[in-house]
Amino acid sequence: MATQSATWAYREAHDDFARTYFRRFSDCVVSSIGMGTYLGDPTDERDDRYREAIEDALRSGINVLDTAINYRHQRSERVVGDAIAESSVDREAILVATKGGFVPFDGERPDDPAQYIRSTYLDTGIIDRDDLARGQHCIAPGFIDDQIDRSLDNLGLETIDLYYVHNPETQLTERSRGAVYEQLEATFTRLEERRAAGDIRHYGVATWEALRVSATAENYLSLPEIVRRARAAADAAGNETTGFRGVQLPFNVQMADAFTIESHEGAEGPQSALWFAHDAELSVFTSASLMQGKLADGLPGQVAAKLDGETSAQRAINFARSAPGVASSLVGMGSPDHVTENVAAGRFEPLGASAFDAVFE
Ligand SMILES: NC(=O)c1ccc[n+]([C@@H]2O[C@H](COP(=O)([O-])OP(=O)(O)OC[C@H]3O[C@@H](n4cnc5c(N)ncnc54)[C@H](OP(=O)(O)O)[C@@H]3O)[C@@H](O)[C@H]2O)c1
Repeated sequence: MATQSATWAYREAHDDFARTYFRRFSDCVVSSIGMGTYLGDPTDERDDRYREAIEDALRSGINVLDTAINYRHQRSERVVGDAIAESSVDREAILVATKGGFVPFDGERPDDPAQYIRSTYLDTGIIDRDDLARGQHCIAPGFIDDQIDRSLDNLGLETIDLYYVHNPETQLTERSRGAVYEQLEATFTRLEERRAAGDIRHYGVATWEALRVSATAENYLSLPEIVRRARAAADAAGNETTGFRGVQLPFNVQMADAFTIESHEGAEGPQSALWFAHDAELSVFTSASLMQGKLADGLPGQVAAKLDGETSAQRAINFARSAPGVASSLVGMGSPDHVTENVAAGRFEPLGASAFDAVFE
């Protein structure tokens, strides 16, 4: 697992970045630019490029690897595991995050996906049919337990540093918000138990819509309520403190709702997801930091002018990692050239708090 001493040693060995490039996560330090592994075809060729890109990233100053069991039908997790095993960088210097929630296929999309899910997960009792949303999503404790075992195997690791429940808002298509919170609490209790067993160290939620929409939206989930459920789970599992530590949400120049929409009840009234997370000492990991590559083609002129960086991609990354509460901005990088360009964004300062606020005035 990632440790305090190894991550701080990694930071020492990469001392040519701008101030605040490395940020605290728990007792570790992590690079504020992280490697994402979502996009790309499920092919051997793409696996090879990802493996090379991850090894380059680890060598050049990125120690956050983000994946999910369903990404590229488990190929991304396996490639992350291979790259870590082959890398000269100490495994304990790397924060490895993965997610469970979407029922994964195995290496490729099967000819009959419904039959695959039936025989692998329903007939075996790993998933109860009532817990399945949209025929492909489940966050019940027994399923998440099974998925953690598979992820540990794919990654070849003893411990996952940060385990996310993946897009829990998907369950709102099938059940009430109250029932989703109940299910999250039951699953968090299992995650607290897996923490105690050493299989995961921290956990959180990775969301696409839930935390950045208004409180009246159908797919809204309240971050304060989720945190309360995590505290209750820690109590139920007999853990002194909760391991709920990370929140993942999309954030970029074009998708800034996590900063602009105040839908989470804080001590002094409603707050944005980013400010609530900041004040609750949760670490935010931004997804889609380049808006799935589109921002590499250009940013709105008045925003670009405020940001440091030599390329649009670098300026977009520096915008995302300037936001409050952000530990690391994840960028999908299946191409070694993109790693070189993107990691260099970390040699520039992100925006200070007032300059960041001024972008929204
Ligand atoms: N709901 C969720 O939890 C969720 C949803 C989406 C994403 N995520 C996580 O967040 C990560 C980042 O999001 P994302 O991958 O969807 O989108 P992204 O980081 O905004 O964009 C990735 C795309 O940008 C391209 N790219 C990267 N650097 C570039 C550069 N310098 N110039 C031009 N193009 C560049 C990549 O191409 P190459 O691959 O060829 O380098 C890839 O196609 C994901 O990989 C995943 O780990 C989580």
